[in-house]
Amino acid sequence: MDGRRYGSPVPPPVLPAALQHRPMHPDDAPAWADLLAVIEEVDGTGEHHSAADLARELADPDLDLDHDSVLVLDGGRPVAYQVLRLRAGPDGNVVHTDGGVHPAFRARGLGSYLLDLAQRRAGDLDAGLQVRVPAHVADAVALAEGAGFVAARWWSTLHRDLTRPVEPAPLAEGLELHLLGPGYDAVRWDEPLRAARNASFAGHFGSAPESADTFAHHRTGSRAFRSECSAAACTPDGQVVGFLLAFEFDARTAATGNRDLYVMTVGTLEPWRGRGIGGALLAHALLRAQEQGFGSSSLTVDEENATGALGVYTRAGYGVASRAVTYVPTLWPASRRFPVRESPDSGARVDG
Ligand SMILES: CC(C)(COP(=O)(O)OP(=O)(O)OC[C@H]1O[C@@H](n2cnc3c(N)ncnc32)[C@H](O)[C@@H]1OP(=O)(O)O)[C@@H](O)C(=O)NCCC(=O)NCCS
Repeated sequence: MDGRRYGSPVPPPVLPAALQHRPMHPDDAPAWADLLAVIEEVDGTGEHHSAADLARELADPDLDLDHDSVLVLDGGRPVAYQVLRLRAGPDGNVVHTDGGVHPAFRARGLGSYLLDLAQRRAGDLDAGLQVRVPAHVADAVALAEGAGFVAARWWSTLHRDLTRPVEPAPLAEGLELHLLGPGYDAVRWDEPLRAARNASFAGHFGSAPESADTFAHHRTGSRAFRSECSAAACTPDGQVVGFLLAFEFDARTAATGNRDLYVMTVGTLEPWRGRGIGGALLAHALLRAQEQGFGSSSLTVDEENATGALGVYTRAGYGVASRAVTYVPTLWPASRRFPVRESPDSGARVDG
């Protein structure tokens, strides 16, 4: 990467000697998967990535690989990576980081190098920077805090054992449950689901409205989408008032030998909340997952979710498995600053 592109008067970050760097290429997916597998062995975040899923990530229509990705190489072998995702939210642009350093190459300044790149890119885009790290990964927490970032938000990854019984929870009278699969019909469902998703997540921390392409790429067109465990709640005239999209990550299934149903997105339109729609969609998904041999379900929730999501999940039998923290720079413009709180004590990790 050419530091001059950032147009900043501050000198570009310096990479430790003997290492090279370049933007990621679409065909980097297998090597990226290998790097992530080595990182996972040490960090134990519970996340597993297949080369096929990562190839799709690299083909994201919203991702500018030349400007927003970097691979650090040691003689051709990837030893660190970073992917930046720009989201245009109601309060302005936000850059989210996703990065990692090979355990054998830690404590050499690579994390600081990546963070520096992210800060410059966010500065050039006049965007706030958000760095989410698993709360139990001490290296990542130390990097963020050492760079003067402050914790702004906590996330819980929740887990539900599906060998335990699931209570059915029917929808209220007048509403209809529509299964989204098997055989998902994108022409029929993508637009109403996207509209419901954008409306129900309008006030959700870190969320931004999604274009048709983004929605299809990341949600219903994902290899991991499991339409047979996903559903929409509709009024008799066909309006989607609630929905649940569930995923299964093959790489995780292969690594653990357990099928885990990841509840990627649940939403109920604001006027329809508090009538049991979220609970009914969740119960439906869990019952379908049990029928299909899933051993567990998981999801990630903002611990300060103002719409009571944590309560809905807890009632459905989920418990906290791990936590993550979103760090933000202290020097954000006041208009972009989120409330900062003291870290509650926890040793567990989160992602999502
Ligand atoms: C979180 C969300 C999906 C919940 O959907 P919902 O349809 O309101 O969920 P439910 O109605 O099943 O449960 C919500 C509350 O209504 C209560 N409720 C359920 N059935 C009810 C009924 N028949 N009458 C009155 N209240 C009822 C539930 O007990 C629950 O109460 P609580 O807040 O005290 O825990 C919804 O608020 C939403 O879309 N939020 C924005 C997007 C979001 O944050 N999604 C989750 C991301 S992790």
